[in-house]
Amino acid sequence: MLKSGKIHQGDCLKLMKKIDDGSIDLVFADPPFNIGYEYDEYDDRQDDEKYLAWCTEWMQQVHRILKPNGTFWLAIGDEYAAELKVAAQRKLGFHTRSWVIWYYTFGVNCKNKFSRSHAHLFHFVKDEKDFTFNADDPAIRVPSARALVYGDKRANPKGRLPDDTWILRPQDFQSDAYGFTPEQDTWFFSRVAGTFKERQGFHGCQMPEQLLGRIIRVSTDEGDLVFDPFTGSGTTLAVAKKLGREFLGSELSKEYVDYAAERLDDIHVGAQLDGPADPIASAPSTSNGRRLQAKQETNGQLF
Ligand SMILES: C[S@@+](CC[C@H](N)C(=O)[O-])C[C@H]1O[C@@H](n2cnc3c(N)ncnc32)[C@H](O)[C@@H]1O
Repeated sequence: MLKSGKIHQGDCLKLMKKIDDGSIDLVFADPPFNIGYEYDEYDDRQDDEKYLAWCTEWMQQVHRILKPNGTFWLAIGDEYAAELKVAAQRKLGFHTRSWVIWYYTFGVNCKNKFSRSHAHLFHFVKDEKDFTFNADDPAIRVPSARALVYGDKRANPKGRLPDDTWILRPQDFQSDAYGFTPEQDTWFFSRVAGTFKERQGFHGCQMPEQLLGRIIRVSTDEGDLVFDPFTGSGTTLAVAKKLGREFLGSELSKEYVDYAAERLDDIHVGAQLDGPADPIASAPSTSNGRRLQAKQETNGQLF
């Protein structure tokens, strides 16, 4: 059995073969999307058939190493989302609980099509009925529109479960009143609005800690073992460690392993996750946002 509490450098397929059957509670995988992204070692331009066969092979290993009540979350782009969902369900026997859309900003701006502003997060389980889903964890729940927008006293004080479109950085909204801009391919009309202060950003493929926080909290309990075959900068393992879960990773690149290992060494169990836990509630309203101030400064008068 591969030793937990560390990142193993090498090919995930070879390394997963050293993981015992039925030993992992949660696998989170954010593989290369086969879109020509520049990694330091991996070549992200594979022949279609080869890429799909490879994904099916490592997902088969994921199925094998998961406990009978284990969970598999897969992050994937549009290009292969449909094929990988079919492979996971029909070929490998996973059951789909949710197809989450993660909305993000600052994607590549397109001129002759709608700009990409989302990724897919598939929530698969091995057993249709027996799996961990901590729906009552207060850190998972979000304020309802009833509480947030309408100030309705009937709102459940414990909040509600998030919808299956996840907006983790609404403070990045570019449109003043409606959040999503119309030229993007995820369209959303919200009453929660504003020009939000920027916070620390993530670059390259580094995922936001709050996104992993939601996944790890809902799908595991403290002490459970979380495995990330494509560790990258180490976000999954960092969040698992902060939340008191056991962790294990594999990563092809020696440089990324060194960087991510340092990141893990620098954090401790119980540390806060990066990014605001409740970005919508903590965001300023439109009237308190920056735009109004800018107008005041330009014109020297109040509106
Ligand atoms: C999309 S990134 C993962 C980013 C990660 N979720 C994070 O938050 O930083 C994919 C990673 O998979 C690694 N990789 C590619 N092929 C691999 C393989 N066969 N085995 C292990 N890692 C691999 C790449 O080096 C890259 O770091």
